[in-house]
Amino acid sequence: MAKGKPVIEFKDVSFAYAAASDRPYAIEDINLTIYEGEYVALLGLNGAGKTSLQLCINGVIPNSIMGEFSGEFLVYGQDTETASVRELAKLVGMVFDNPEFQLSQMSVAEEIALGMENLGFSFEEMNRIIPEVLEIVGLSGLEERSPFALSGGQQQRLSIASALAMRPKILVMDEPTSNVDPIGKEEIFAVAAKLNKEENMTIIMAEHEVEVMAAYADRVIVMDQGKILLNGTPKEVFSESDLIQKLGLRTPQVTELAAKLHKKGSRKYSKGYPVTLDEAAASLR
Ligand SMILES: Nc1ncnc2c1ncn2[C@@H]1O[C@H](COP(=O)(O)OP(=O)(O)OP(=O)(O)O)[C@@H](O)[C@H]1O
Ligand SMILES: [Mg+2]
Repeated sequence: MAKGKPVIEFKDVSFAYAAASDRPYAIEDINLTIYEGEYVALLGLNGAGKTSLQLCINGVIPNSIMGEFSGEFLVYGQDTETASVRELAKLVGMVFDNPEFQLSQMSVAEEIALGMENLGFSFEEMNRIIPEVLEIVGLSGLEERSPFALSGGQQQRLSIASALAMRPKILVMDEPTSNVDPIGKEEIFAVAAKLNKEENMTIIMAEHEVEVMAAYADRVIVMDQGKILLNGTPKEVFSESDLIQKLGLRTPQVTELAAKLHKKGSRKYSKGYPVTLDEAAASLR
């Protein structure tokens, strides 16, 4: 894959929350560069530091959360410590795990308008952009619907639409499907993949669904105890199946099977394990 320019750069970043915590640093010695148009999946157990890393990207850390920040962090070359909230909102959109907590308005249109009002978008711009972003997430025509009358998957796609209305270049999603039924999950992954492929949007998604990440992500980053342990293509990362299992994480089922066959003496997988069903099927032909 041809890499775009670097858009996210962590240089020796560590952060410790001021509030008491179970270890000194939530994230520690993070060195990471993410390129424009990449789809990056973040994996890690509870408390590994996924959310803290993502909150650096939209500047909430260190600007709105008390703590001790060291190192340098740049998004599109800008230091988030000095960039304005308005500038950052135009670069980075954020979607959290629980859609209901992100919703507050009486209608879908008002929900999307809220963030745009804060950024000073004109009435004309809002009227143009709202139907556009609803179409992208597959919610066309639902402007007047109450957000609370939507399914979990639709609510989460509304959260994505609200983030997209600010026209961000990077979309950060923190376990966006964890409170959504299986159909809703698929819809959200499909929207994220479409934004990545068609709009070249950079996506950083914390997720537990390793099968889905193997299918969509360009890169998988495994975190443990605030540090980055693995960082590579899904094939590179999931081939470290022993380490991943030791951490208490899963690899895709097909990878697990291939690893077991490999240990039993199969020589089919000497060049690395398949990570998707299609790859596994191809290796059997
Ligand atoms: N607001 C906070 N105040 C104090 N400590 C925090 C706060 N938020 C997170 N931590 C601590 O920071 C570390 C990293 O947590 P973080 O929430 O970034 O992990 P995570 O990988 O997102 O976990 P999860 O899968 O549970 O969402 C943990 O030790 C956690 O206890
Ligand atoms: Mg988290």
